Amino acid sequence: MRKITIAIDGYSSTGKSTVAKQLADYLGYVYVDSGAMYRAVTLFAMQNEIISKDNFDEEKLKNSLDSINLSFKKKEEWNKAHIFLNGEDVESQIRNLEVSEFVSPIATIHEVRVKLVAQQQKMGLEKGVVMDGRDIGTVVFPDAELKIFMNASAQERAQRRYKELLECDNSVQYSDVLKNIQERDYMDTTRADSPLLKAKDAIEIDNSEMNLEDQFHTVLQLAKDRIAGRLLY
Ligand code: CDP
Repeated sequence: MRKITIAIDGYSSTGKSTVAKQLADYLGYVYVDSGAMYRAVTLFAMQNEIISKDNFDEEKLKNSLDSINLSFKKKEEWNKAHIFLNGEDVESQIRNLEVSEFVSPIATIHEVRVKLVAQQQKMGLEKGVVMDGRDIGTVVFPDAELKIFMNASAQERAQRRYKELLECDNSVQYSDVLKNIQERDYMDTTRADSPLLKAKDAIEIDNSEMNLEDQFHTVLQLAKDRIAGRLLY
């Protein structure tokens, strides 16, 4: 069966990574979480006094890019590949709200994007990849055979992310999560370089009212059609 490239873009916490992972597992494709790469660069910047609440040293970040090495590794016992920053597994550290607060400014830096996009394109060279993010259908894989754009209301998305974060930190507040989602939506859609926008040929799915199973079957059907070369929409 021919292999295709599947790009899933959309706002924060729309369930992109869940459906991307399900799809990749079902099709035997590689799943790449591009957001994890921006988060890992952010963690590096936090650890190296490049970004904090009252400081963002953009020059230092640009000069440090060569010493940031990102890779994904998989183990039987993990349900998805983990991201490694300079050889260290940082998969759980990059998910906290502090990293979420700094990631969108980091993602505005052109040089960061150039580095990460080049690595993402390399990972997709042989097709058979599902990648999720903000610019996958527009910049990383403009020729992807299937492009999905996911959306849901900010309140619904904040509720989902709040539940997830509560599992590791019971001090987390819903209002902080909602504020972070709204701030990131704003920064991600208004930045100059590769803003989040729906590619002309992307199919939009609003999953505010959809459960995970419905969402998966909707996307899977689209993928099967594209793999078979059916262009019905
Ligand atoms: O998990 P969530 O949907 O909240 O976000 P993520 O996919 O982990 O991405 C975190 C942040 O990285 C986003 O808010 C963007 O600022 C940035 N990002 C990006 O600029 N381009 C991508 N392809 C992926 C993420």
